[in-house]
Amino acid sequence: MITKQAIETRRAVKHYDVDHSMTHEEINELLSLAILSPTAFNIQNWRFVVVADAELRKHIREAAWGQSQVTDASLFIILCADLKSWEKEPERYWTNAPKEVREFILPAIDNYYRGKDQVQRDEAMRSCGIAAQTLMLTAKSMGYDSCPMDGFDFGKVAELINLPDDHIIAMFVAIGKGTKEAWSRPGQLNLNDVVIKNSFS
Ligand SMILES: Cc1cc2nc3c(=O)[nH]c(=O)nc-3n(C[C@H](O)[C@H](O)[C@H](O)COP(=O)(O)O)c2cc1C
Repeated sequence: MITKQAIETRRAVKHYDVDHSMTHEEINELLSLAILSPTAFNIQNWRFVVVADAELRKHIREAAWGQSQVTDASLFIILCADLKSWEKEPERYWTNAPKEVREFILPAIDNYYRGKDQVQRDEAMRSCGIAAQTLMLTAKSMGYDSCPMDGFDFGKVAELINLPDDHIIAMFVAIGKGTKEAWSRPGQLNLNDVVIKNSFS
């Protein structure tokens, strides 16, 4: 499937075949492609919590307004970010770069994030948003449906997965074999409503 088709046919699918399993190879391929998603300064701050434990999924579903995607999707990912990835051995993100690039970029990374909580949080959300879309389009191209989700109690889910203090949850992505089609698109804005020429008036 070409990318354009995957974009056109991806929908937020809410009902999944609970009996379908994805193979380890499929899951590995999906996640391996997801980590090719771009991140600022290549800090690769996303963390993909893959919840396979059925009991844990039940508890997460309770914290997500009972939404069935949580327990029924073949693959259930809690997309998190490490807010401090920028300061955790950042040289590993540039190992293969020429020395002069490393010498320039490592202090630049530090300068961009140090002491700036909002910037760190914004970066986490940007990275996770892009990774989520990569996951969903890749899933579509592999014959799977998906649902992005933020309808849950973030604090409760953080507790359930023992989220470290310097990490944050961005969203869930559920992936599997859809059993019911999504509603027809409920209301798409026109390009004119969302594209601004040059500047806001
Ligand atoms: C960040 C985000 C959070 C969402 N949370 C939920 C959710 O908790 N439950 C749900 O059923 N759909 C959720 N959705 C799906 C949206 O309702 C859906 O993407 C939107 O209506 C557009 O439909 P489409 O994705 O099929 O084009 C979420 C989507 C996004 C991007």
